[in-house]
Amino acid sequence: MSDTAMTAVRIHAYGDASVLKYETGVPRPVIAEHDVLVKVHAVAVNPVDWKIREGYMKDYLKHKLPLILGWDVSGVVEEVGSAVTTLKVGDEVYGLAPMAKDGGYAEYISVVATALVQKPKSLSHVEAASLPVATLTAWNSLFDIAKLQAGQTVLIHGAAGGVGSMAVQLAKWKQAKVIGTASAKNAEFLHSLGVDEGIDYTAVPFEDKVKDADVVFDTVGGETLSRSYAVVKKGGVLITAVGQPSDEEAAKYGITAVRCGAVTSEQRLTEIAVLADAGKIKPLVQTVMPLIEAADAHRLSQSGRTRGKIVLQIV
Ligand SMILES: NC(=O)c1ccc[n+]([C@@H]2O[C@H](COP(=O)([O-])OP(=O)(O)OC[C@H]3O[C@@H](n4cnc5c(N)ncnc54)[C@H](OP(=O)(O)O)[C@@H]3O)[C@@H](O)[C@H]2O)c1
Repeated sequence: MSDTAMTAVRIHAYGDASVLKYETGVPRPVIAEHDVLVKVHAVAVNPVDWKIREGYMKDYLKHKLPLILGWDVSGVVEEVGSAVTTLKVGDEVYGLAPMAKDGGYAEYISVVATALVQKPKSLSHVEAASLPVATLTAWNSLFDIAKLQAGQTVLIHGAAGGVGSMAVQLAKWKQAKVIGTASAKNAEFLHSLGVDEGIDYTAVPFEDKVKDADVVFDTVGGETLSRSYAVVKKGGVLITAVGQPSDEEAAKYGITAVRCGAVTSEQRLTEIAVLADAGKIKPLVQTVMPLIEAADAHRLSQSGRTRGKIVLQIV
């Protein structure tokens, strides 16, 4: 292979996991003046990856095919653009690359330098890659939108999942009271994360256990979202990571209902790195797979039954 080529997993068409093609001889990305070239060591698999692969977001993101998925990356800076001042060759970095461009299911990714910061020193690349989307989404929900305070009660739906498990840890760090939903097999896991009360949503309707929560963070959507308005206290906040909340329902219950996003910045990624290095939040990587198994990683993510995160290890 020439030194301008690399191995990557690309999609040439939208469809099921079989459209993920492991390929050699893929052109190595070329950087512009504000970009860095990163040798990718690890990339997380997020549900958004398979949603894009299925074509659910094609009208909104308007990607050109072939496309490399996977934007939660950790790796080492190999080249820097002429206008980059914050990073240098050899830096170990992590962050959330912009989804408008090719991602990191590849040996190399070109990323605008402002999307990356120094990797948490105490974490491996696999652990660091697991953090951005999940932690930034939980942060945006609990702190930017809900302004969660110590002593408040927050109900987190999908508390064993990638986003939910980081939300539990951030809420406990803020000294909130945390109630989390998951199926029975995850009861012990929720306990290990520090939830004050776990609810097996397959056995009991959460409405039987929760009334007047200050904040509800929904990472499940659908019926879970539509049933959640009623358990938020008047003046409280319902945030969802999935779907669009209803203004009418929110007005009916006298609450605020908002959709969250993975809002990123260098400052926030650095704050997350500091918390991780201090042991205040822990990466929760359930499954590590080689790049060549990206299709199986997607099937696993799409099952909706994973605990913590799935990460592809490249180096
Ligand atoms: N808006 C945004 O910017 C944004 C950002 C990040 C993620 N998201 C979206 O948020 C969703 C969650 O993401 P994720 O990475 O956390 O997904 P994930 O890791 O795949 O979530 C899997 C978890 O969901 C739990 N679950 C499934 N159904 C449940 C239910 N009815 N009640 C409670 N828990 C349930 C499962 O627990 P059991 O196995 O115990 O059922 C499993 O642990 C995805 O749809 C993703 O696309 C949106």
